[in-house]
Amino acid sequence: MRFVTITSGKGGVGKSTISANIAYLLSMYGYKTAIFDADIGLANQDIILNVKPDFTILDVMKGEIPFKECVVKINNNLYLIPGESGEEILNFKNEELLENFYKGIEEFEDFDFLIIDTGAGIGESVQSFIKAATDTIVVTVPDPAAIMDAYSMIKYSAKIKDMLYLVLNRVKNKKEAQEIFAKIQNVAKKHIDEPIELELLGYVQNSPLVEECSKRRCLLARDQASSIPALQIADIVKKLTDSLTKDGEHIKETPNIAVFFKRLLQQI
Ligand SMILES: Nc1ncnc2c1ncn2[C@@H]1O[C@H](COP(=O)(O)OP(=O)(O)OP(=O)(O)O)[C@@H](O)[C@H]1O
Ligand SMILES: [Mg+2]
Repeated sequence: MRFVTITSGKGGVGKSTISANIAYLLSMYGYKTAIFDADIGLANQDIILNVKPDFTILDVMKGEIPFKECVVKINNNLYLIPGESGEEILNFKNEELLENFYKGIEEFEDFDFLIIDTGAGIGESVQSFIKAATDTIVVTVPDPAAIMDAYSMIKYSAKIKDMLYLVLNRVKNKKEAQEIFAKIQNVAKKHIDEPIELELLGYVQNSPLVEECSKRRCLLARDQASSIPALQIADIVKKLTDSLTKDGEHIKETPNIAVFFKRLLQQI
């Protein structure tokens, strides 16, 4: 199972939008996918996916409901795990309840992907999600402040990862995405001591359609499937799934979902 943490240095760069659309497309391609909303922000996954969860993962950890009751089915292959702020989840330390939590989660072992939508910045919870992930995607937009913040995120991540994916969002075109990626790669090579492999996973152009979709609570990849930004997200997903077969070696071991949450909560 792959655990894909989607993160960014600066806020509002499109993490939640991209996470939801990646997760949706994976589900359409036949991968059993869960999206874990590990952030409380303006664009929560429940809003993007237009569902109203009754519970969150914290209710499960408190022992109030079994894990499967917090999970919201979006379609046959796509499930939402509603979160709380990462800090609240990670500070939860009741061993006995946690054991039950891990047991409940084992039912979900047959998933192919867990897409984790985190908050912005290098907070403690985001660090833990990066550590526990098999794949990390850093999203940035072209503005210089966002690029600087993405660079800081890469610098931090280089301490714990040897490979990171980048997604350039809200770019004019492919050329701009490639230029920004090359700049980031150069700066990283010069100024980051640890070896870190960066790969441009893809880009999404700046498009009013994306914003309109957020406002109308539709899902771009479903409701505007043939639009250019939706096709660009489809390219990202294709590259991600191709790497499953082509480039498995950067993943030393792929844990199951219970092991993932154990690692996350014990912050190994
Ligand atoms: N390619 C794009 N073109 C135009 N608008 C976009 C694009 N990508 C995202 N947006 C818009 O940017 C806004 C922020 O997106 P989103 O909520 O996904 O960002 P985020 O990184 O998850 O934010 P936060 O850090 O608050 O969690 C939304 O209104 C979304 O519609
Ligand atoms: Mg978000």
